[in-house]
Amino acid sequence: MNFEFATAQRIIFGAGKMAELPHLAAPLGTRAAFLTGSNAERIAPVFNLLQKCGANPAAFSITEEPTTTRLITITEQARKLGCDYVVAFGGGSVIDAGKALAALLTNQQDLFDYLEVIGKGEPLSHAPAPCIAIPTTAGTGAEATRNAVLLSPEHRVKVSMRHPSMLPTVALIDPELMLSMPPAVTASTGLDAFTQLLEAFTSNKANPLTDALCREGLKRVSRSILKAYTNGANLEARTDMAMGSLFSGIALANAGLGAVHGFAGPIGGMFKAPHGMVCASLLSAVVKTNLHALKARDPENPALDKYVEAALLITENPDASINALLMWIEQLCRQMQVPGLNAFGIDASDIPTMVEKGKRAGSMKGNPIALTDEELAQILRESLTL
Ligand SMILES: [Fe+2]
Repeated sequence: MNFEFATAQRIIFGAGKMAELPHLAAPLGTRAAFLTGSNAERIAPVFNLLQKCGANPAAFSITEEPTTTRLITITEQARKLGCDYVVAFGGGSVIDAGKALAALLTNQQDLFDYLEVIGKGEPLSHAPAPCIAIPTTAGTGAEATRNAVLLSPEHRVKVSMRHPSMLPTVALIDPELMLSMPPAVTASTGLDAFTQLLEAFTSNKANPLTDALCREGLKRVSRSILKAYTNGANLEARTDMAMGSLFSGIALANAGLGAVHGFAGPIGGMFKAPHGMVCASLLSAVVKTNLHALKARDPENPALDKYVEAALLITENPDASINALLMWIEQLCRQMQVPGLNAFGIDASDIPTMVEKGKRAGSMKGNPIALTDEELAQILRESLTL
């Protein structure tokens, strides 16, 4: 068993930990590029904290999924304003934009030189500027991943800038920031965290260290996802979700994912749909197809035992079978009103393109078994309507 493991330089977790931001930010540089979403009410106090500690923040907002064009504009402005580090405060999109900006502040080549798939995919030649990642949602785990997902509108595709040095300098996770997340966002981001934990746990690149994180994350997310959805003010449930999301990010950055994310990437590039909802629409069909393929072609594959173990962790029943896992997923999708892929404008005529794009997606490489084109198409057919 050989493996390598890397994560953010510092992880600071806990309710109220946001108060530590000034001490964390001040030593990092002379001027912070402060990336946020669009909620002015919640941004103002953080901006004030940064101003008081001498961070001299220059604010930039990321109101939608970050595009290549938006990132190029922000980078030019941040360079002109003399920003030498980044504070990213928001959902996964904001944090991804922050990590990409930190990389581009010190690496002067064209953005497309560093982008996978549609660019040259060149490695960074310099360490990125320091970056503090502060998530306000519990889902993507972007505070602990080494890539930034950007949308290229002209190519209708989401692509990554990826490098081990893009792991944030500090991941500051304060569950109190998540108390006001509306139910729809709680559902979508929470389902993403759950899917990431299950895919990293059963990935063919999983290792004992990522397994430990996934076990703990699956336990916490499964016991708290509905509680956080039905009562957003439940701090205990929000804490479980924040930790599950963080662990999912650490795990996926080191173990990869699987077929759900293999499809979710291309779908996200072509259709406007919440990432976590797309993941949840696909999840049950992917687990069923993987089980079928593993039993038929690779019955000794450790992923089969991992699915059983996941069922046990999630249901807290020591006799749980894989069927219990599938039933639990399907019930959760109903309770959180997950629609089929049809709801996002995807229909049967899109399946051949999706199979082609999904096959080439990086996440597909982590799937516990290589799936045939027919199996991939079957997953999509089953996910069109739930
Ligand atoms: Fe995800």
